[in-house]
Amino acid sequence: MTGIKDISAIRSDFPALAGTMRGKSLVYFDNGATSLKPQSVVDALNGYYREYSANIHRGVYEMSERATAAYDRARESLYRLLNVSEDQGEIIFTRGTTEATNLVAYAWAMNTLKEGDEIVTTAMEHHSNFVPWQEVARRTGAVLRFLPLTPDGALAEKGITETIGPRTRLVAITAMSNVTGYIPPLSDIVRAAREHGALVLVDAAQYASHHPVDVQELDCDFLAFSGHKMCGPTGIGALYARRELLESMEPFHFGGDMIREVKLDHSTWANVPEKFEAGTPNIAGAIGIAAAADYLMEIGLDRVARHEQELNRHMRSALADLDFVTIYGPVEQVERGGIFSFNLDGVHPHDVGSLLDQQGIAVRTGFHCAQPLMAHFGIEGTVRASFYLYNTTAEVDQFIEALHRLYRILQ
Ligand SMILES: Cc1ncc(COP(=O)(O)O)c(C=O)c1O
Repeated sequence: MTGIKDISAIRSDFPALAGTMRGKSLVYFDNGATSLKPQSVVDALNGYYREYSANIHRGVYEMSERATAAYDRARESLYRLLNVSEDQGEIIFTRGTTEATNLVAYAWAMNTLKEGDEIVTTAMEHHSNFVPWQEVARRTGAVLRFLPLTPDGALAEKGITETIGPRTRLVAITAMSNVTGYIPPLSDIVRAAREHGALVLVDAAQYASHHPVDVQELDCDFLAFSGHKMCGPTGIGALYARRELLESMEPFHFGGDMIREVKLDHSTWANVPEKFEAGTPNIAGAIGIAAAADYLMEIGLDRVARHEQELNRHMRSALADLDFVTIYGPVEQVERGGIFSFNLDGVHPHDVGSLLDQQGIAVRTGFHCAQPLMAHFGIEGTVRASFYLYNTTAEVDQFIEALHRLYRILQ
């Protein structure tokens, strides 16, 4: 399997790459925060707003029917993206990964968990797959337990079977660390959870935009992701969930569109998925995320992953030659995401980020919404460079050269 063959054709799909930053041609290495958008996504959003920006479901006129059909098609694109079998699972549109994890926290965990039940997670999670479980534990009396990490931030061997046990009701874990690019062994985790009848929530915010995902093969119960990290717009994402769970769960938000019938003294709920999509949804966002999913599926997410592995190899060997750089995370892992977190000896990460910005290179600095992982590494923050399908090895070389230059300046 080859990676992306015609990288210049891919690059020409992304108008922002033709632009400059600080007068230099842009090197965009902040894909972990959000991705750039291809023209097809911009066109899909514009098309809705320009031509048929009616509300969905209620309209008896053509324009509204067109918007409703586009919204329904958007869900179908996401079924294909994740291999959701419609009679077993469902896609709920949310504002993003954060709202998706909160949906599970409020609609399932807070109504279900009791004192002494256990939620298993890790210290490598993004806060949006961590703070909701802390809050569930505080309100329900459930106990939060953590899969142990090795010093370089991988899951410790045996930790999975030693931590997931008969009291575990939920395992909430990332499919890929947004700090280190580490990919945990999800199939071992799902197996251990199943042995004890626990549910599994996968935070795929980083993973699903860069790798093929098959929810049937993964056998998880919930999977959350965001449109803006996968070439789509901000303000839209989705929760995949098993249908029988959604049927049994209470709604998260209440109001229009999620009801079957409203009486003065009580109301009843619409079917799944509408039960979880109260109010006018982000129609343009759904159309945009579907255009993004279609774009990625056409290229092939296996190719995207392969391309990033090539960039990883290049970056890893170039960074390894720099004796003033400390990389965080299990960088030797073969199947890892295209994310590198590092620090330069004696230099604050923000200074590195600002100097890279002067050279047209966009990276992120700070704690990356992962303070427990920073505490695990004993640091305050890092510089994070993260790749996507349009990045090139030439950009990696430019980045390494820039690090050399700025380190010399700062000495
Ligand atoms: C691993 C991970 N989970 C969750 C999130 C939250 O995503 P959003 O801000 O789109 O809700 C992020 C965002 O950076 C992330 O990297």
